[in-house]
Amino acid sequence: MSAQELATTAAAMVATGKGVLAIDESMGTIQKRFDTIGLENTEPNRRAYRDLLIANNGDQQYISGMILFDETIRQSSLAGVPFAQLLTAKGIMPGIKVDGGAKDLAGRPGEQVTEGLDGLRERLAGYKALGAKFAKWRAVITIGHGIPTSGCVDANAHALARYAALCQAAGIVPMVEPEVLMDADNTIDRCGEVTAHTLRTLFQALVAQNVVLEHTILKINMVVSGKLCPVQAGMAEIAEKTVSCLKRTVPAAIPGIVFLSGGQSGLDATRNLNAMNVGTVLPWPLSFSYGRALQADALAAWGGKPAQVARGQQVLLHRERCNSLAARGHYSAAVENELPA
Ligand code: 13P
Repeated sequence: MSAQELATTAAAMVATGKGVLAIDESMGTIQKRFDTIGLENTEPNRRAYRDLLIANNGDQQYISGMILFDETIRQSSLAGVPFAQLLTAKGIMPGIKVDGGAKDLAGRPGEQVTEGLDGLRERLAGYKALGAKFAKWRAVITIGHGIPTSGCVDANAHALARYAALCQAAGIVPMVEPEVLMDADNTIDRCGEVTAHTLRTLFQALVAQNVVLEHTILKINMVVSGKLCPVQAGMAEIAEKTVSCLKRTVPAAIPGIVFLSGGQSGLDATRNLNAMNVGTVLPWPLSFSYGRALQADALAAWGGKPAQVARGQQVLLHRERCNSLAARGHYSAAVENELPA
């Protein structure tokens, strides 16, 4: 793939009013999601659920790409079309999660490093042949007493940079995702400090590995209060602190930034994204790459019941539309209420 093709893919991922649907839950994570609706975690059930998410008519107005799990990119829809082919035919780019998950970091109690570089070159070639246009690697940064340490942040940034360089060599756009978790009792300002440190370290590492920033998409957490913090920042503060953190740390060469939802509700994730996009002129588009915030209501509406597939898809399309509008700063409570009962 030429440099031009990588640039085209990256630009299309964050085209105006478009974002990414993350449906790349690992076996353990999809188990947790299915537990919420009492559904057994079997291959046919995973395929049925991914079919609901992928074979949803009209979503290409709002969604530029979907991040798939290894199993999903090898599966076919219920109508018998390979999922990657179905997406491509709709004008949605198939993406693939290529990391091997976060593992305990030796010598750093309470911290993790994401594994999966061994054999990555060969796996990327395989995914490219299956139609993947972009890939995702998620690093996890935990806030706690005395953590994160520089040792942990450096190790994760190094792995992200090695992964990103391999992606670009394979003609695949890397979506680099360092996620600062929002589960602790920290203040929003502590989240901002850790996110800024993580991003500065990441961009140094990307440059050190000759990663082309123009062909890289950043996926990041919003700057928020930890879930257990007694004082919870509101939408305006989240938007202001997230945008200033990004302005101070992310080079303008990056074609776009997308957010993970990280445990925010569907509504909060949409409202916060919208607040960042109202009346702001920024060096990069700010859009979404949500998993839970896009899927949670649809999963509940479906409930694992074949008769509820259409409702699940309607609920999903509504959230996708709301986030598409939020990516342009055009979302409103009136739009939120347009989901038919
Ligand atoms: P959430 O939006 O549920 O955090 O998931 C996005 C994602 O892809 C995390 O890697």
